[in-house]
Parts: sequence; structure tokens; C-alpha cells
Amino acid sequence: MSARRVYLDNSATTPVDPRVAAAMARAVVEVFGNASSVHGFGQQARAAIDRARREVASLVGAKQNEIVFTSGGTEANNLAVRGLCEASLAHGRHVITSAIEHPSVAGVCVELEKRGWEVTRLPVYHNGVVRLEDLTRALRPDTVLITVMLANNEIGTVQPVGEIGALVREKRAAGQRHLSLHTDAVQAAGRMPLNVDELGCDLLTISAHKFYAPKGTGALYVRRGVRLHGQNVGGHQERERRAGTENVPGIVALGEAAKLAREELQQRSAHDRALRDRFEAEVRKRITDVVMNGDREQRLGHVSNISFRFIEGEGLLINLDLEGVAVSTGSACSSGTLEPSPVIRALGVDDELARGSIRFSFGKDNTGEDVDYAVEVLVRAVERLRALSPLTLASH
Ligand SMILES: Cc1ncc(COP(=O)(O)O)c(C=O)c1O
Repeated sequence: MSARRVYLDNSATTPVDPRVAAAMARAVVEVFGNASSVHGFGQQARAAIDRARREVASLVGAKQNEIVFTSGGTEANNLAVRGLCEASLAHGRHVITSAIEHPSVAGVCVELEKRGWEVTRLPVYHNGVVRLEDLTRALRPDTVLITVMLANNEIGTVQPVGEIGALVREKRAAGQRHLSLHTDAVQAAGRMPLNVDELGCDLLTISAHKFYAPKGTGALYVRRGVRLHGQNVGGHQERERRAGTENVPGIVALGEAAKLAREELQQRSAHDRALRDRFEAEVRKRITDVVMNGDREQRLGHVSNISFRFIEGEGLLINLDLEGVAVSTGSACSSGTLEPSPVIRALGVDDELARGSIRFSFGKDNTGEDVDYAVEVLVRAVERLRALSPLTLASH
């Protein structure tokens, strides 16, 4: 193992901000009451949760009582998609989604199909972005939910959710009152401005560990008036939408991280983008046969997804890791499999390129020296692997 360690996997998870850790540690020790209890200890916990709720609401431009705390992005996505569909049975059984959703949305869609629902998956084309005309064509009178992620976790492309929201409003005004829009904003939160009214969404998912808080807490924004079937059976917490005693320290951490993300968004975004652009410029200059995946403009500023021809992504990842540079192949949740990433395949690239794709994702703790070191290591690793690769030999 190398002495130097450079973490370029901030889309998988982020290091915890010491300010967030301090707020959480205080809550663990001092705010141990059950928020449902009537006594002072309970009220103290309730007040801490309410403070965090205000911060999360403010991060996404919502009202406090529209935020439901969950155990993370996966649970919030499950609650949004399954909960909305189960509450809408009387109005239709058709869902529209994209071909590149995270498994916590895509998997629920497959499950719905097994239960007799119809699901239309919008293609994303070479740039990794859905097209509005495909959505317009897919909409039906019995469509009850559109679920399209705001930003993709592998290539960082930003989907036109605001335009989809405008279309949903038009449809509702024209009489399709039971059509709702959900967006998985797990990758977008803390990386770009979020406003549920500008997006026109009814449900929006975020996850604490993607913006410098610990794992295990997330939130679902639920627009006032939207009906959802709770997925947990139990107590009355979170206005009947999410039964279970609240994880007060996790929620406090999420609240603190949301506050910092809102206050520091501009400076963090500029920092990440500068590092990412410097990295991509160096890669282009020093390595041949690379393909940069996803739309060049319509994408988050901290992600770079690159396919290296003649190389397996897994092999490259291991070589980088041996020199202390941490990156991802495919989605973090499905790494460990050698199947080409379904997201990269959805771009229409060949399997060889899809298998050679690596995601580099930058964060607020990375430095220019990190980028320079990662480039040096990457250039050496690519040269070494290409010299050994049967794919390179076959091409010459
Ligand atoms: C786009 C997206 N949605 C949902 C999730 C799941 O969030 P969590 O890890 O909090 O369950 C992830 C995590 O990788 C993600 O990237």
C-alpha cells in the first residue's frame, strides 16, 4: 500500500466534515430522549429534529412539514416510488422512468412490473440525458408517476427535471390531476442549487453521506397534498409517513451538513470544478484512446467518467488503489461484478469501452496536488496495463 492516499470517490460517499461530526457527537451524548416522549428530554430531541428539518427544507426550497427523514437515499426512493404508486392504484398503473436510474428506483420499478404495473424507460442517448419529446410520447392518461433522477451517479449528467416539472404542471392543469413527479437528487444535493418549486417536483430524495455527513440518514421531500403509503408499519412518526423512532444524531448531522452545503455551495462547486477540469485536461494531454462519458455541459462539476480503451476498468482500479488513489468502476453499489455498467451501456458505447470506464469524483477536501499525483499514477498504470493487454495486441 502506498503511503500517499488520494480519495477520488466522492460520488460513492464523502468524508465526514468535522463540524458535522462535532454536532452529531454532541447530540449522541446530550440529546438522547425519544422525540415522541412528552417530558423535557423528549422535547429536547423534538427541537433538535425540528432544527434539522428547517435546514433540510431550506436546502431544497421546501416547507418544514414537507420533509420526511429516512435511513438514507435508498429508503427515501423506495418510499417515494412504491409509496406513491400504492396510494395511486385507483388512478392508473403506469410509471415513466429513465434507463439510468439508481437501483433503489430501478429495482422498485421492476418489482412494480411483477405486480402488474407498466413501466416505460426513457432512453438517454449518447450524451446520457433524457429527451422531453420521448417523455411527451410516453405519457398516458393512466400515468401516475414520473421518476427521473436529477443527476446520475456514474456519469454526473443532469436531467431536464425542471422542464419535466413544467410539463407535469401543464398536464395537471389540463385535468390529469393524479400525475406526480419524483426526482432522485442524491447526487445533486450539495453540488448544485436545489429548489423544489423551480424543479416542479412533488417528491425529491437526498442522502446525508453524499454531502459530508455520515451514512444512514436521508430525507424525502413530499409536496403538501401528495398522498403516499408509508412503507414501515409501526408508530406515528414523521406524520405517519415513516414509522420508527427517529435517529436523532443522524438527523442532527444531516441538518448541519445541509446548512453547510447551502452556505458553501458556490465555493465548493468552483473548487471541485477547477480540480475536475484540470484533471480532464491533463488526461487528454497525456493519455491516448480515452473517451469521456456523458454530456460535456449538462453534468455535475465534480465528476469525470472516462473509458480507457484496451483496458479493464477493474484492473485499472486495483492498480490505482495500490498507489493510494481511490476511484470507482460502474456504480459503487454494483462494483465487484465484471459486467459492463448498465449506465455506460445505455449511452450506446461498445462493451469494451463500457468495461474500461472509471469514475473519478472530486470533493471539497481534495487539492491540486491530489490531482497531479492521481494523473501521474494514472498515466503509469494505463501504460503498464496497455503493454500487457491482449486487447492492445489484437488492435495492432
Ligand atoms: C443516485 C443515487 N440514488 C440513491 C442512492 C442510495 O442512497 P443511500 O446510499 O443513502 O441509500 C445513491 C447512492 O449511491 C445514489 O447515488
